[in-house]
Amino acid sequence: MSSQLTRRDWLRASGLMTAGLSLSRFTPAEAAPTAEQTQSTFANEFAFTAPPDMPKLRARLLANENPLGIAPSAKEALIKAADSGNRYAWMEFGQLKDLIATDEGVKATNIMMSPGSSDILMAAADNFAKAGGTILTSAFTYDDLLRRSEKLGAKIKAMPMTKDYKFDLPAIKASLTPDVKLVYIVNPNNPTGTIVPTAELEAFCREVAPKVPVFIDEAYIDFYEPAERPKLGKLVADGQNIILARTFSKIHGFAGLRLGYAIAQPDMLKTLHAYTNGDFAVSITTLMAGIASYKDIAWQNHCRAENAKARSYTTKALTEMGYEVIPSAANFILFPIRMKPKTFENQMFANGIGIQTREYNGQPFCRVSVGTSEEMVMFIDSFKKVVG
Ligand SMILES: Cc1ncc(COP(=O)(O)O)c(C=O)c1O
Repeated sequence: MSSQLTRRDWLRASGLMTAGLSLSRFTPAEAAPTAEQTQSTFANEFAFTAPPDMPKLRARLLANENPLGIAPSAKEALIKAADSGNRYAWMEFGQLKDLIATDEGVKATNIMMSPGSSDILMAAADNFAKAGGTILTSAFTYDDLLRRSEKLGAKIKAMPMTKDYKFDLPAIKASLTPDVKLVYIVNPNNPTGTIVPTAELEAFCREVAPKVPVFIDEAYIDFYEPAERPKLGKLVADGQNIILARTFSKIHGFAGLRLGYAIAQPDMLKTLHAYTNGDFAVSITTLMAGIASYKDIAWQNHCRAENAKARSYTTKALTEMGYEVIPSAANFILFPIRMKPKTFENQMFANGIGIQTREYNGQPFCRVSVGTSEEMVMFIDSFKKVVG
């Protein structure tokens, strides 16, 4: 096995391969299925046994992590919580649920904690794909839930994106058929970084959710300016059958600590709970750090502002070089490249810059996570060298 393959397998197995190279398998629904689309590629997904062959990177810009780390207040809480490591966290997750419930305008019974939102995505796939049927989504999005659903025997109907790389909600709505078990929306979307207008998304949920559950993956929602952030909790409070998946992995920097949650109807949470340990899967140390981080608005504002600054620098530098950068509302940027994705990726890695590549409709793209300002300068310098 080549070192490149080993790295790729590790990324996939460790969940770092966000949206994955396999994304191109979910090409637009009307395109003729290719052999790649129809054949299962899951056989060896978790089969790696060798230690990860991760090159030493100067800038790790491949997994949409927070380059600033966790909040100092969260670190303090984490260390303090070590003393309670012998106790089950019966009381503590209630505290975090109460805080979230107040902000979202829902009840604590509408919330289920989890070790990252991946567990919620997997539980949804396990539940909604178990009897076949179709999962309806967009062609260029995060594919963890989709790959798992496909593996369980469901079909993936992936509608093309709009011209500006957004979820095409009218097209998705028009494609609803009785065999659709779940609609999967990612907002802001990974890998495009695009958002759908909040009013349009709300109207979509109110119309579609009475017919079929709508899953909205809001992993990157914290990168919205707080005043502009969609407040879909109110739809849950109104009794709508939607599932919101949130994570602390991004603005809170908890990708390694693992913390996330779902907001949904209590019955839906009960259904999903059959596939996950839910609240109890989260360690007390992570939970206590999560509570501190959730309350630390100043740290979240700092991370959001630093992200916006570095993102804007990178967008400007690429635009000046003649690249068409897709406007991003998240902590990563996607833009079309003019090289073979593999060659580009290898050369960037050889320079110590970790990025990911994607293909959509035959066009290769680079997806670069927003690191620190210094890391983005390194990225641009390397990019100039690699593309000549
Ligand atoms: C769109 C999206 N959803 C969910 C996740 C899962 O994140 P985690 O399991 O770390 O919460 C990711 C990770 O990158 C993501 O990009």
